[in-house]
Amino acid sequence: MVDSKQVYEKVQNCVDAIRKVTDFEPKVALILGSGLGNYADQIDIKCEVSYSDIPGFPVSTVPGHAGRFIFGYVGSVPVVCMKGRVHFYEGYDITDVVLPTRVMKGLGAQILFVTNAAGGLKYGFEAGDLMLITDHISVFVRNPLIGPNIDDFGTRFPDMSNVYDKELSDIIRQTALENNVPLKEGIYTQLTGPSFESPAEIRMLRTLGTDAVGMSTVVETITARHMGMRVCGISCISNLAAGMLPEPLSHEDVQKAADKVGPMFEKLVTECVKKF
Ligand code: HPA
Repeated sequence: MVDSKQVYEKVQNCVDAIRKVTDFEPKVALILGSGLGNYADQIDIKCEVSYSDIPGFPVSTVPGHAGRFIFGYVGSVPVVCMKGRVHFYEGYDITDVVLPTRVMKGLGAQILFVTNAAGGLKYGFEAGDLMLITDHISVFVRNPLIGPNIDDFGTRFPDMSNVYDKELSDIIRQTALENNVPLKEGIYTQLTGPSFESPAEIRMLRTLGTDAVGMSTVVETITARHMGMRVCGISCISNLAAGMLPEPLSHEDVQKAADKVGPMFEKLVTECVKKF
């Protein structure tokens, strides 16, 4: 049984630990997926806090997900940026996977901007495409809100009819146009991983309406919506999904492909955040 009181106190303890280091109040919380690893270069950094310095904070075991919070400004907008995140497949409790999202809200963030690397399913998508996330499918992962509801965070049965904020999504579309960044749109499905999907699973997901698949993001989004944060997101299509090309998938290839679009991805995220 999830101990909600313990979950709540852990979040508060993390917030308190960070508050001992900085009083920076972010407006936008950014979760950086593969391909945005160098995003910190775009930020006028005021303070950094390593996850390992925050008592109880989950620290990632995945190569390429080095972990720390970066506080600073994108244009004049105060942001907190997660360089590195933990995934459910690493073995963490789902409440730990979403703890950083709750901590960022606790520090003042009102908007959550999620990014990830994802496999593309939709015909016409190519590796290197960027996809605005317009909706998601969460049913293959454990819902992070399972357990007694934490009323201090939000309501028992949060509405999910407008998960990805229309106004923020319009800003992203407009900004992509202005900067000549081609932007696809679609529905993201989170699976647990860590194995990549089989071709049969990819066909199933496509039948269900999935355009891109990955191993993160949706649980953070649900948690953010529970707390009333506005959410927007972009996937970097790092590969076509299993079975769509003759070669097998590897984490290294996914990482390399995501890194290749990195500069365009960074430009788009920066120009969007400045308008939030
Ligand atoms: N499947 C799941 N997760 C992923 C993929 C994929 O093809 N690419 C990047 N993350």
